[in-house]
Parts: sequence; C-alpha cells; structure tokens
Amino acid sequence: MKVSVIGAGNVGATCAEVIAHHELANEVVLLDIKENFAEGKALDIWETSAINMYDTRLVGTTNDYSKTANSEVVVITSGLPRKPGMSRDDLISTNAKIVKSVTENVVKHSPNTILIVVSNPLDVMTYCAYINSKFPSKRVFGMAGILDTGRYKAFLADELRVSPKDIQAVLLGGHGDTMVPLPRYTTIGGIPVTELIDKAKLDAIIDRTKKGGGEIVNLLGTSAWYAPGSAAAQMVEAILKDQRRVFPVCAWLEGEYGLKSIYLGVPVILGKGGIEKIIELKLSGDEMKLVNESAKSVKEVMDVLDKLEL
Ligand code: NAI
Ligand code: 2OP
Repeated sequence: MKVSVIGAGNVGATCAEVIAHHELANEVVLLDIKENFAEGKALDIWETSAINMYDTRLVGTTNDYSKTANSEVVVITSGLPRKPGMSRDDLISTNAKIVKSVTENVVKHSPNTILIVVSNPLDVMTYCAYINSKFPSKRVFGMAGILDTGRYKAFLADELRVSPKDIQAVLLGGHGDTMVPLPRYTTIGGIPVTELIDKAKLDAIIDRTKKGGGEIVNLLGTSAWYAPGSAAAQMVEAILKDQRRVFPVCAWLEGEYGLKSIYLGVPVILGKGGIEKIIELKLSGDEMKLVNESAKSVKEVMDVLDKLEL
C-alpha cells in the first residue's frame, strides 16, 4: 500500500512520520516543490526506522509526480501556513493556486486515489480539490474535525484530570472560529460531560477549542503540526484498514443537515471507499442555528474561490 503526502513541511512531514512509524503503509512518498526538501525529510524519517522499528519505505521527491503513481491515499498539505494576525481565510488565493495544480498532478498519476486535504482555509481548499479532481465526493474530503475534537478532548482531560482516551466528542461546521462543538454529544467514559463540569467552565473550554489554532499560532509564530499531522494519519489508517471509524470530517453535503453543495464538518463513517456514510444527527434549534452560521461563513469563502476563476 502506498500513500503520498504532498508538501513536506511541518504538517506533511509529521503525517509521513506517523504513517511510517505505525506501519500504516508499505511506502510513503513525500513530495515538495522546494528543491531537495522532501528528499531530506524522507531520508531523516527513514533513518528512524531502525530506531523506531518499522519497515515502511520513505521516498522523497522534488515535484516528480510519477513517484506518487497509484497511491491509495494522497494527503495534500502544500500551501502557506498562518502567521500571527492572519486568519485561515487570508490564505485563500495563494493556497487555491497551489491546491489546484497539486490536485491536477496527483489525479494524472493516481486516478483512483482518495484525497485528504489539509491546506487552509480547509473547507474551501477541499472544495478546490473536489472541483479540480472531478472525483466523486466520497473520495475527496478534508481533515479538521479530528484535530478540533482532539484539542477539545485535551482541554477537557486537563480540566477533569481524566485520560483523553475516555473522552468521546463530535463537532460540526467549518474549520474556523464558527465551528460547533456539541456538549450534548460529549461523554467521559459514557457519562455526559454536563454531569461532570459546570456550564461556565465548559463554555470556556468550547471557546478555547474554537480559537485553538490561533492559540498555537500566537505561541509559535506559525500553525500547529503535531496534532494536524497525526489527525491526517489517523484518517489514512481508517481508509487503508477499512476500519469504518466514525470521525468528524469535512465532507460534501447534498441535502444533509438541510445544506446543499457545500463542504462542511460532519460526522462520517470512514472506510476503504472513503466516506462510506454521512451521519445526520438530530440537532436542536440552537445547534442548527450555529451550524447554519458556520455554513454561511464557509459559503462566503467558497464564493470568493469561485470568483477567482482559477
Ligand atoms: P509549511 O510551510 O511547513 O509546509 C508547506 C509546504 O508546502 C512547504 O514545504 C512548501 O514548500 C510546500 N509547497 C508549497 N507549494 C507547493 C506546491 N505547489 N507543491 C508542493 N509543495 C508545495 O506549512 P505547514 O505548517 O505544514 O502547513 C501546511 C498547510 O496546512 C497550511 O495551509 C496550513 O494552514 C494548513 N493546516 C491545516 C490544518 C487543518 O486542521 N486542516 C492544521 C494545520 C495546518
Ligand atoms: C490549526 O487549526 C491553523 O488550521 C490550523 O491549527
């Protein structure tokens, strides 16, 4: 099994390392436009194989897409990351050009692959890959919800002094400050979170989750990579092993949640065909209102992309 990761920067290299370390594929190809960069990252990761005890092969290449041919899954992380003061949406025109050309090249060499988009602004870059790949939408989706729920679970684990392994949560909406964590669907070892934490503390954690990307940007001067890279690798694993995991994923909606022709975060079943099913939760009026607000802000950026006429 072969996985390609486009963009050998912080997120791409982390994702490749996690895939190799856990032997999720036989071969991981890292591709970057920067001369020798992916080669160097791939070699460094490969040199951990005897230390970390795995035999997944790593290949690095400068823009040679023939090396990515017949990948089962391709993860797209190429593009600029956020800097302090920038929103994810500020990245749109630069990253759209990158994601478009990367998608076209990937599709030429791997016409049956599954595309996982990571580049920001996430929901709109996933839309960009979808329209340029001409793939069915079940084979093109974006990584955000695993990262965002990962942050939410980490903050809850700290507050409640419990293992993050015992926390289950789902989150809807776009990958931005309008994302919608759902306390009603958050449990700690099966116990509703609302029984274990007071409303003010939970609201503060939800607020911190929504701003979790910005918190890291302010600390590091660039955006996160360990959690995003691991989250994308977890999606790769679900697909390659046909695990049918239930994850929040940025998926193309055609009427689900009353929304049409939009990429938005929703719970899905992820398996060997990609998105095997979109799960529709019964939302309260207030929850649906928040999802609609999030959808509106994603749609506005999708319209910006359409107007760019790339
Ligand atoms: P980075 O700057 O470390 O790496 C990006 C890499 O893309 C660079 O090595 C660059 O040379 C490469 N690249 C640029 N144009 C390319 C092209 N045409 N073909 C191939 N490679 C190309 O950035 P980082 O931190 O890895 O972030 C990557 C993207 O992921 C950013 O857009 C960032 O905002 C996004 N991101 C998304 C997250 C999510 O939850 N969806 C979380 C974290 C980051
Ligand atoms: C994050 O949430 C910036 O999307 C990136 O860390």
